[in-house]
Parts: sequence; structure tokens; C-alpha cells
Amino acid sequence: MTKYVIEGGNPLYGNIEISGAKNAAVAILPAALLVDGPCRIENIPQISDVTLILQILRELGASVRTINRTTVEIDCSSVRNQPVPYELARKIRASYYLIGALLGRFGKAEVPPPGGCDLGGRPIDQHIKGFVAMGAQVEVQGGMIRARAKEGRLTGGPVYLDMVSVGATMNIMLSAVRAAGNTVIENAAKEPHIVDLANFLNSMGADIMGAGTDVIKIRGVDRLHGGSYSIIPDQIEAGTYMAAVTAAGGEVLIRNVIPKHLDCITAKLAEMGAEIEEHDDAVLVRRTGPIHRTNIKTMPYPGFPTDMQAQIAAALCLAQGTSVITEGVWDNRYRYVDELRRMGAQIQVDGKVAVIEGVDHLTGAPVRACDLRAGAAMIIAGLAARGRTEVDHIYHIERGYEDIVRKLSAVGADIRLVHEPDEETQKTPQVG
Ligand code: EPU
Repeated sequence: MTKYVIEGGNPLYGNIEISGAKNAAVAILPAALLVDGPCRIENIPQISDVTLILQILRELGASVRTINRTTVEIDCSSVRNQPVPYELARKIRASYYLIGALLGRFGKAEVPPPGGCDLGGRPIDQHIKGFVAMGAQVEVQGGMIRARAKEGRLTGGPVYLDMVSVGATMNIMLSAVRAAGNTVIENAAKEPHIVDLANFLNSMGADIMGAGTDVIKIRGVDRLHGGSYSIIPDQIEAGTYMAAVTAAGGEVLIRNVIPKHLDCITAKLAEMGAEIEEHDDAVLVRRTGPIHRTNIKTMPYPGFPTDMQAQIAAALCLAQGTSVITEGVWDNRYRYVDELRRMGAQIQVDGKVAVIEGVDHLTGAPVRACDLRAGAAMIIAGLAARGRTEVDHIYHIERGYEDIVRKLSAVGADIRLVHEPDEETQKTPQVG
């Protein structure tokens, strides 16, 4: 078993460099399927979700060349339209972007239903609604989602999303860029990664306007050409380290960020007593005084991101007073609460609302990463707690955080990756 072992109590001092955005990368890499010719993609995060998508692209026949640690060149000229392998697709949520990309390229896609974190029901009806509005027939058969454009190529049309969905907005964009005619997505999501996907596609010759607003207009083009593109920094990775400094105390310069994307997070952490200075492409976070209580409601961008809910909750466990969190996006995103309680947190959950009574201190304990962001919250709690915390099920964390142990160690955290052999005969843990 592999786990993180944290000796809590060290304040954090130094610099942390933020990697490319996971939720942009997992859409932009499949978008390379729509491009005729090589595209060079820079600032790719080294996380397991990205490794899996690159593996799927290779299985489909793409040439994927590693240029350096964060750059790949992908050429999808000889990709074959074949079913996406079940064993790979089921491990990640973002495999749903292969439906939009393959439909857009070949007019046909066969992709297993996606996996990803268990956050309650995660339907993709709005994605399908968009494909159908563009003339696709979609059915689920033999455990596969099979989508086919009736005329061999999708035809642009109006799509009104019943709820703001990041995945549906991006998937419909992917399917629409090479469709015949114009597509208009109304009630679109506005997250920075939506703008990033549109910028990537436009730099390869697509014609997308309005990304970042709730109406996106896409004029279909016949082909996209190769080019070069750099992915934006990860807003949630940056927010996670900002929350870690707020919880553990100290002063850290978080570099390679777009401060504007962090506004919603910065505002809350400032209410909680962190001092935050914005620079051109960095934020300095300092927390020396007490942590103040606050209330949070998660919402689509530019509201407070659901993907920061668990990390902020971990910091609020140590606030003076009572905080209330309302989850406004997912049905079930409080599975981590039982784990925080094991460390002495006082949290009551009723449906989508969590009430946190701040405590004087948390105490280290063995805990589980229930999902990606829940795992990050366990690390934050462990850094701020007294004593030793052991976080297992860390494969969830590795899906979305590049080198988290190295980045935190560099700012003074006592955190180690420990491989423990399962066999009872081998008793000595190996430290890596
Ligand atoms: N929804 C539907 N039908 C749909 C699509 C969404 O009912 O067809 C509902 C969902 O059930 C949810 C809400 O709409 O209640 C929003 O879902 P959305 O489609 O925006 O989420 P997603 O695209 O599946 C992405 C991120 C999540 C992040 C959400 C919200 C990726 C791969 N995942 O999921 O990221 O929480 O947007 O911002 O981009 C994470 O990184 O930890 C993570 C879970």
C-alpha cells in the first residue's frame, strides 16, 4: 500500500510553482483528435489523468511525442475510428470528451461511460442533448455510448443547457467546431478552462466566440490545422496550496498563476484572515493570526468552486466560531467529513449543508482520500494537525496534483510518500 505520512505542525515558507490546469488539459488533449497535423501542447500537468488520456490517444493510433517534461506533440492524422478501450475510459471522468471529439472528427463515436470521482449522480444527459440537437443519434448498447451523425457529419444548431455544465459546454464545443453550420450554446459554463479550450481550438483554426460568457457561438469549419498552445495554470491546485498556507500558517509565494482566476478563492481566504498580495503571475499568501469563520456556497464560475470546498472545510475546522458550507453543484461531496472527524473536527452535515464548529486543534490520524479534492483536504488537515497523519487511497490525489509531496516538502512540510508492502512477512516500510 502507498500512503502519505505527514508530521503536522510546521508552518509553510517558500515558493510553490503551479502546474498546468488538469480540467483544461483533459479536454485539450482529446481536442487534438480534431486537428489535421501535429499540435504541440505545453504546460501539461504530470498527473495520472493526463497519462491515461495520452494512452487512449495512442491506442486510437495517434502519434504522441514527448518533447520535455511538460510538452507533448500529438499528431492524430492516422487515428482510426474504433471503440475507445473500456479499461482505460472507465478510470476517468474526462473520457466523455472523446465522444465530442470523435463525433466531430469522424461523425461517429463509441466510448464507454466515464468514471471519475464519486460525487453522487453524474449524468451526461446535457452532453447527449447537445449531440442530438446537432443531428446525432445516441444510444447506450453493450456498455458503450454509441453516437452517430445521421448525415455522416454533424449540423450546427441551437443548444440550451438545462443546467450550467462544464463538461457539456466543452463537449458540445468539441463536436461543433467541425460541424456544418453554426452552433449556439446558451446557459454555457464560464470556467477558465472553457476559455482555454476555445483558445486552443481557435489557435488551430476554429471559429468560436463568447467563451467565458453564457452564450458561446461556434461557426463550423472544414478542418483545423496544427499549431502550438500552452495550457493555463491550474486554478484549483493554486487554491489548494493557498488553503494549505491558511490552515498551517506561514508565508508562501504561489507562482505561475493567473490571479484573476483565483478571485473567488482569494476573497474567501482573506475573510478567513489570510493576507494575500497579488502580483502579475503570482500570489503571496501569509497567515500569522487566527483563522476567522466564514460561510461558503459553491457555484459555477465565477462563484466559489466546488473543487475547493473540501480544502476550505479543512482550514475552517480550525477557525474561531461556526462556519456554514452549502454545496451548490454536487449531490454528495461531503464523504470526507467522517475522515476529518477522526482528526477531531466538529462537523454536522444535513443534505447539502455542512456546519463546522471550529476547534482549537486537530490531531493526526490514519485517514482515507475518498476522492481527489477530499484527498487534498486530508493533506491540509494533516499539515495543520498535531502529530502524525497517514493518508491512504492516494491514487485519487495523484489523478490531479503533480508532485504534491515534493512541492509541499520544499516549503517546509514534513510529508513523505511511503510504500508499505502488503505481505505481513515484509515488515520494514520503504520511504520514497
Ligand atoms: N449535470 C447533469 N447533466 C449533465 C451534466 C451535468 O445533470 O449532462 C449536473 C451534474 O450532476 C452536476 C452539475 O450538473 O450536478 C455540474 O456538472 P458539470 O457537468 O459542470 O461537471 P463535470 O463536467 O462532470 C467538471 C470537473 C469537476 C468539477 C465540475 C464543476 C472535469 C473532468 N471535471 O465536472 O472536477 O467539479 O466540472 O466545476 O472537468 C475535480 O476536478 O475534482 C472535479 C470533480
